[in-house]
Amino acid sequence: MIVDSILTNAKAYINGQIVDCSIAIEEGKIFKIGKETQMPNADQKTDLKNLLVLPGLIDEHVHLRDEGKAYKEDFQTGTAAAAAGGFTTVLDMPNNEPVTMSAETLKNRMWAASRKVLVNVGFFSEFPKKLSETKDIIEEGAIAFKLFMGCQIGGLNIDDDEDLQNGFKEVAKLDVPLAVHAEDKALVTANEEKLKQAKKNNVAAFQLAHSELVELKAIERLLKISASTDVRLHFCHISTEEGLDAIWDAKKSERKVTCEVTPNHILLSRDDLPRQGQMLIMAPPLRGKSHVEALWRGLDTGSVDALGSDHAPHALAEKSASSVWDVKVGVPGLETTLPLLLTFVKKNQLSLTQLVKLLAEGPAEIYGLTNCGRLEQGKNADLTVVDFNQKFKIDASKFNSKAKYSPYDGWEVVGKPVKTFVNGLLVFEEGEIVAKTGTGSIIRRNDSEVSIR
Ligand code: DOR
Ligand code: ZN
Ligand code: ZN
Repeated sequence: MIVDSILTNAKAYINGQIVDCSIAIEEGKIFKIGKETQMPNADQKTDLKNLLVLPGLIDEHVHLRDEGKAYKEDFQTGTAAAAAGGFTTVLDMPNNEPVTMSAETLKNRMWAASRKVLVNVGFFSEFPKKLSETKDIIEEGAIAFKLFMGCQIGGLNIDDDEDLQNGFKEVAKLDVPLAVHAEDKALVTANEEKLKQAKKNNVAAFQLAHSELVELKAIERLLKISASTDVRLHFCHISTEEGLDAIWDAKKSERKVTCEVTPNHILLSRDDLPRQGQMLIMAPPLRGKSHVEALWRGLDTGSVDALGSDHAPHALAEKSASSVWDVKVGVPGLETTLPLLLTFVKKNQLSLTQLVKLLAEGPAEIYGLTNCGRLEQGKNADLTVVDFNQKFKIDASKFNSKAKYSPYDGWEVVGKPVKTFVNGLLVFEEGEIVAKTGTGSIIRRNDSEVSIR
């Protein structure tokens, strides 16, 4: 037999071990992992020169924008940023223009993306106007639902507990995960109104509006409303100690809950605000050091299940409005997450096992992406090749993303993604995108390869 390609001299991360091996690839899948002498013949051979090979990383929290918000990011630039950052799969959030919240909007979005993406992309949907349409959205191929609790975006009335509970029951019936942005709309709105009346419009005012309590209230409300349902809740970007504790308590009482943190909330804190100001406006906002420490403890104890970059690109002008209330919320993260985390692995503050769990195995398990997350025969040949010793300075002006700024601009890091293979094809190599747009695939929940445990 002659396979499509073989990668030799890999130091591959397999089940917690670094294994010297070769990897044979056939039709986009891992055909065999073993010694070079045991490999079949191949059309193509690539010597990986003892570089570290990780399972293709998954960024479970990405705003690719495009369609009506393409001036901020489009499918090509967003997935180029993913490939350059070592991500082979990304999950796209639904707060787009139009909002992804029906089988039709999802279908159009998938179609627009299919011709442009460089990595594999799955899609979230917000709740539709009519609950009976949730089933159609899953049939169309959404990976999961997303619910924004800080402002009204989808079809569920977030002010109404009964509406929410009905939505949760429907999603539980379909057995798909529900990712939630946990900020309490009533409290954040009341806080904002008070601050605006007092003519407060600086970064400190934004922080006050999005207080720690805003997060905790939403988490507690969601846990309460969902208690009598079987919904699988995944809490996005947890930023507070109390929030993480509440989720941990729910887990201990056998609730189906998981949570994510972002690199921003573990690598930055409120103390960075005076230096970078509005550029660091995000929701939930950066917190004090005690919360940052609690999140790091959560990474160690396993109470955090996944890391997501929350890549939230905006035009530069949108980040520098004169009133904080007009500043667009969020920062890009696809091209910084992996080097930043590898730097912490190098410093022994995080293990490689944790990194792979948080950026590959965890997201694959939460979203039922059974075809990726591990280097294993039969899985997608999605590979993130890393030069673990390469030091470099983050330079946002070189990003593939349209958002060419970063909280980490100028940071010295060690550990660089140098090759990214998606479905067996080399997409990114040594700083360059080397594949055609459209090389990535659209992943759909109803494909047999995507299923929940
Ligand atoms: O910082 C954020 N940016 N938080 C969100 O919840 C939305 C996101 C965005 O879409 O920009
Ligand atoms: Zn969010
Ligand atoms: Zn987000």
